[in-house]
Amino acid sequence: MDLGIDLGTTHTVAAMVDRGNFPVVSFCDEDGDSHDHLPSVSAVVDGDLVHGFEAVTAMAQGLPGIRSVKRFLSDPAVTFSTPVTLGAGTDRALTIGIGELLASYLGHLHAQIRQITGADELRAVIGVPAHAHTGQRFVTIEAFRTAGFEVLGMLNEPSAAGLEYALRQSRTLNSRRTRIIIYDLGGGTFDASLVDMSGTVGEVIDSVGLNDLGGEDFDEVLATMARPRLTMAVPSPDALREACRIAKEGVRPQSRNVLIDLPEETVRIPVAEYEEACQPLVDRSVEAMGPLSSLLQSDPARSDVAGIDMVGGATSLPLVPRRIRDLFGRRVHRAPNPTGSTAIGLAIAADPTSPYSIRDRLSRGFGVFRETNWGQQVAFDVLADQHLRLDSPTTITRRYQSRHNIGVYRFVEFSRTDPDGTPRGDLTPFAQIVVPFDEALQRSGRTLNPDDVHPVEDGHWAEETYTIDPSGMVSAEITDLDTGWSASTTMGLDRPVVRQ
Ligand SMILES: Nc1ncnc2c1ncn2[C@@H]1O[C@H](COP(=O)(O)OP(=O)(O)OP(=O)(O)O)[C@@H](O)[C@H]1O
Ligand SMILES: [Mg+2]
Repeated sequence: MDLGIDLGTTHTVAAMVDRGNFPVVSFCDEDGDSHDHLPSVSAVVDGDLVHGFEAVTAMAQGLPGIRSVKRFLSDPAVTFSTPVTLGAGTDRALTIGIGELLASYLGHLHAQIRQITGADELRAVIGVPAHAHTGQRFVTIEAFRTAGFEVLGMLNEPSAAGLEYALRQSRTLNSRRTRIIIYDLGGGTFDASLVDMSGTVGEVIDSVGLNDLGGEDFDEVLATMARPRLTMAVPSPDALREACRIAKEGVRPQSRNVLIDLPEETVRIPVAEYEEACQPLVDRSVEAMGPLSSLLQSDPARSDVAGIDMVGGATSLPLVPRRIRDLFGRRVHRAPNPTGSTAIGLAIAADPTSPYSIRDRLSRGFGVFRETNWGQQVAFDVLADQHLRLDSPTTITRRYQSRHNIGVYRFVEFSRTDPDGTPRGDLTPFAQIVVPFDEALQRSGRTLNPDDVHPVEDGHWAEETYTIDPSGMVSAEITDLDTGWSASTTMGLDRPVVRQ
């Protein structure tokens, strides 16, 4: 069975490929009620990990658990073994590698989907935030594989939502207006992408995003407003936040009050006050969209942007589409199933017979600080920027004669480059390789330090090779051409694997 799977911060949604249709898989909770998602929650019961609805119940009973693991994945330093703690701060806390935890969660998802669909083999196109670092891509793919899925491909989430929009709204797209902006406000992340859909082949022109903005921040604002209004016993922070999430999801366009139901009391907060407190969150998303929305605001008659497609569960909060419509007018559309659009788009990508396809771009750039003298002399080279197309693997190779006996390569990712090519936005280190261009040092295998570095005449020839695969994963290899010694790393692994 072919599927699209959207591993979300709060909800995991799976859509099936079924003869030209893309139905969303229904999961049963412990009361037998069906839902179009599996909660992205894990917990510990009697020493064993449980996931999804079972984990939600366990956490409600006070057992150690964890929500929103995906937020930890966005840490640029993340690797498969980065520790995460379930029940942090309690005496029953359990610490486990994030990759292992995710693989166990996805193993549960795999078993559930097999049970529901009766299919044995599950092949999936999986999603990842557009601005995800290489480490996040790597850990996500590995966890899906470990869980038993065959990974057909990885697509940026907004690109997937663009495919779903193209299928649903093809009539708003015409030969003149072929571009759409996907506004995706999920549980923990915000992504916006400009997608061009000419005919059935789409192309992501540009994406921007925030790793730290989503529906959970709206829960937190509500919890902060509720705390001073409590008159009875103060619930645990987790219980209060959960009650706030439920209250927030109950807000309708005509609601006057947000009602937070707690075991001992109901806290009432006027919607107008709550919305005012939330406005800065929505404005952050608008600000982050700046580079894309300038295209929309320029003379609407001549703009080739057909509209803004709003997806992600947090766009169900009435304030969000209202504010976006105030700013951008009538061309704002809400997806009929805001939590399912991404998974449906991923399923479209997984369907070998679908006429719709999409070409992605890197959406983050990466480059290398080449330090010939441990920081004394530094050159920065952009190896690929956010415009790089990802339809097929890209290889970049460079050769030069080294001027020192040791080279230090510090790899960084950055959000985007200025028109003149200078990296801008957050610059995050994600790997380092130290390469001795010296046979004796290569053979000794000892740890090198700055005192070992000195300039050399007639140094060894070096070759750097970078391969960027269509999922956006980067691998780097640096070879001493004189001796054949090489060091390589896949960005996201624990440490470079050194081969001789
Ligand atoms: N009716 C609703 N009103 C307001 N918010 C809602 C509603 N339904 C869901 N949400 C919020 O939407 C968020 C989840 O959205 P979604 O399922 O799109 O996120 P996700 O895909 O899990 O996360 P991400 O895309 O950030 O990884 C949660 O914060 C949830 O509270
Ligand atoms: Mg999402």
